[in-house]
Amino acid sequence: MNTAIWEINPSAGNLHSHQAILEGGKILRSGGLVAFPTETVYGLGANGLNPQAVEKIYLAKGRPSDNPLILHIVNLAGLEPLVTEVPEKAELLMEAFWPGPLTLVFPKRAEVPLKVTGGLETVAVRMPSHPIAQALIAAAGVPIAAPSANRSGRPSPTLAQHVIRDMDGRVEMIIDGGPCQMGIESTVVDLSGSVPILLRPGGISLEALQAVVGDVLLDVGVASKVSAGEEFKPKAPGMKYRHYSPKAELVIIEGESARVKAMIAEMLESAEQKVGLLATREMVEGLQEYLPSIPVKILGSRADLDEMAARLFKLLREFDEEDVELIIAEGLPLHGLGLAVMNRLRKAAGYHILQV
Ligand code: TXA
Ligand code: MG
Repeated sequence: MNTAIWEINPSAGNLHSHQAILEGGKILRSGGLVAFPTETVYGLGANGLNPQAVEKIYLAKGRPSDNPLILHIVNLAGLEPLVTEVPEKAELLMEAFWPGPLTLVFPKRAEVPLKVTGGLETVAVRMPSHPIAQALIAAAGVPIAAPSANRSGRPSPTLAQHVIRDMDGRVEMIIDGGPCQMGIESTVVDLSGSVPILLRPGGISLEALQAVVGDVLLDVGVASKVSAGEEFKPKAPGMKYRHYSPKAELVIIEGESARVKAMIAEMLESAEQKVGLLATREMVEGLQEYLPSIPVKILGSRADLDEMAARLFKLLREFDEEDVELIIAEGLPLHGLGLAVMNRLRKAAGYHILQV
């Protein structure tokens, strides 16, 4: 398949009449695939009410079919035809965080194909804030099923170049709207019970959710203590797969900073593979004498977890380009976006974690 690649400046006026948006809307309506930027990561869109179109997403990504998709809508009128009820806490969260990086799981209506929900009776819905995403969904006139636009198992794409790398020739169209601002996927919250459950940490922090709805439970897939090989059955099916993985082996060193630094120094000295380091600016500064000959990627300064979230996936992909065999990563604080960053990093490492 020949993939059309269009560049759009997200801050251009009148996106709704942009030729690429009109063309993309037409492709989506007729059952094709369009990759597009959102404020979190690039999405791979299809008409969410058309099971044949949705099937193409699974094929293009190489994604297991029990892993459900998020439906993207552009306004609140788009929610009602998809769900049977909207609990009060959902109303509060929607008011606080939509449009934006929050996905809510509701009981689904019969009209939502089981292909979208991986056979579940619930459906995940999100209203993105990115102007290109909004214009495209409006142009399509249907809810858009869209997972992250990476091949299954790879780090999510935060640049159009990442999407082109994974999806060229597999989709009708890729819209290049520049870098994604958040760089990490939406937070997924299940509202089908009385207490909201955090299924996937993401762009809206746990603290921000709690400030709006009070108690929020953590699903087992999120709880930080899950260790290698431990059996667990997360409620968001996508959380159980090895994910976000660079080609290199990845090990995370977690613990008090001075001990983490000593352990990294020891590993750098004794490593026989081609090693790379993924760490905070402060850690890298403390390790200068060990670093001249290896690829080093700075996630950001320790206090700026938003910056780290925005850079994580891009840096993991860069290590692949440099044929690194072992990535040593520094563990990060778990508050704010740190919870989401560490969730992705631990998965990327296949839960290969050294506590020091
Ligand atoms: O930021 C995002 O959410 C991006 C952009 C493109 O919107 N999309 C995204 O989709 O990350 P995806 O497919 O890569 O991740 C969707 C997550 C998976 O972990 C999936 O298992 C979970 O949401 N999910 C979807 N529907 C669900 C449902 N009905 N119940 C529980 N989990 C669900
Ligand atoms: Mg994904």
